[in-house]
Amino acid sequence: MNTFSRTVPPVAADRLPDLLRAMPKAELHMHIEGSLEPELIFALARRNGVAIPYANVEELRRAYAFTNLQSFLDIYYAGASVLQKEQDFYDMAWAYLERAAADNVVRAEMFFDPQTHTERGVSMQTVVDGLHRACVDAKSKLGVDAELIMCFLRHLSEEDAFATLEQALPLRDRFIGVGLDSSELGHPPEKFARVFARCRELGLHLVAHAGEEGPPAYVWSALDVLKVERIDHGVQSTRDPALMKRLAQDRIPLTVCPLSNLKLCVFPDLGRHNLRELLDGGLVATVNSDDPAYFGGYMNRNFTETFAATGLGAQHAWQLAANSFEGSFTDAATKRGYVDRLGAVFDRFA
Ligand code: HPA
Ligand code: ZN
Repeated sequence: MNTFSRTVPPVAADRLPDLLRAMPKAELHMHIEGSLEPELIFALARRNGVAIPYANVEELRRAYAFTNLQSFLDIYYAGASVLQKEQDFYDMAWAYLERAAADNVVRAEMFFDPQTHTERGVSMQTVVDGLHRACVDAKSKLGVDAELIMCFLRHLSEEDAFATLEQALPLRDRFIGVGLDSSELGHPPEKFARVFARCRELGLHLVAHAGEEGPPAYVWSALDVLKVERIDHGVQSTRDPALMKRLAQDRIPLTVCPLSNLKLCVFPDLGRHNLRELLDGGLVATVNSDDPAYFGGYMNRNFTETFAATGLGAQHAWQLAANSFEGSFTDAATKRGYVDRLGAVFDRFA
C-alpha cells in the first residue's frame, strides 16, 4: 500500500476542527518575513532606533487591507526594514516556530528573502546565522524539524539573483533549496532559467511561486524551464486541463495558501476557493499560511476556516496532511514516521 494513502471514517462536523488542529502536518510555504507580527515590528523598531510611519500596532494592522499581491508586498518589504541584527532574525523565526509547534507543525520549510536585507546593508551572514540558530533550537526545544529555502526576488534582475547566490554559497549547508517570489505578473519564471540551472547543479531543491496571480503558462515554465519540484500557490492551474493532468501525473506538490488567496483577492470568498477541485483532480495539494502575520492566520486557522467555508471533511484532512509530508524535502523514512503519527491521531478520532 502507498505510504501516504488511507481511507478514513467520517468525523462529526463538531469534532472536525479539533482533528484539523491535532493532526501533525508540514508547512511548506511560509515566508519568515511574513510572520513578523505588528507587536514585534514595533519592538524591533524601538530596539534598533528605526522610525516607522505608523503611530501604533492598531494603526499598522489597519493598513493590512490589500487589493492584490503588489499592495501587500509594498507593506511587507517596509515591515522587514526593522530587521538589522542576528538576534532580530532569531527572534522573528523563533516566534514563528513556537506558533508552528502549537499548531502541531512537525516540519517547517521556511522561505527567506535575503535581497530585502542585503540591499539595506545587512549581511547575508547576519540573516542566515539568526534564522539557522532558531532552526537548530526548534529541533531540540520544540521538536520541530525546521529548514530554510532561500528565495530570489523576481522583480529584481537575473544578475542580482546570481550575486545573491554567490553571497550565500559559503553558507550552502544552512539552506536546502531555492525559490522564486515577489511580484509575479511581468516576471515569468524563465527570467531566472540560468540561475535555477546553476542551483540545480549545486544539488539544491528547487521551488517557485507560479500561478498565484499569473497564468497557467507560468506554471508550465516553472516546471519545464526551471525544473522545479514543487509549485508555490499554483491555484490558476485549474484553468488548464492539460496542466492539471501533468501536475497529477508527475505528483508535483502545490503549496496552496487559502487565507493568503482570500486577503489578496485571488478568490472573492473562501467558499469559492478551488482547493476541493485541486484534490479531486488528484493533485498533491497542501495547505500553508504564506505570510501569517499579514493574512489573518497560522496553519490551523488556514485549515479550520477553509474546511468550514468549503465543507471539506476528514478524508480531505488526511489527504492534505499526508500530501504535506509527501511533498516535503525530507527522507523517506522520516516521512513514514510522520505518516505513522498522523495515523495515530486519526485513530483517536475514529
Ligand atoms: N507571493 C509572492 N511573493 C511573496 C508572497 C506571495 O504570496 N509572500 C511573500 N512574498
Ligand atoms: Zn508565498
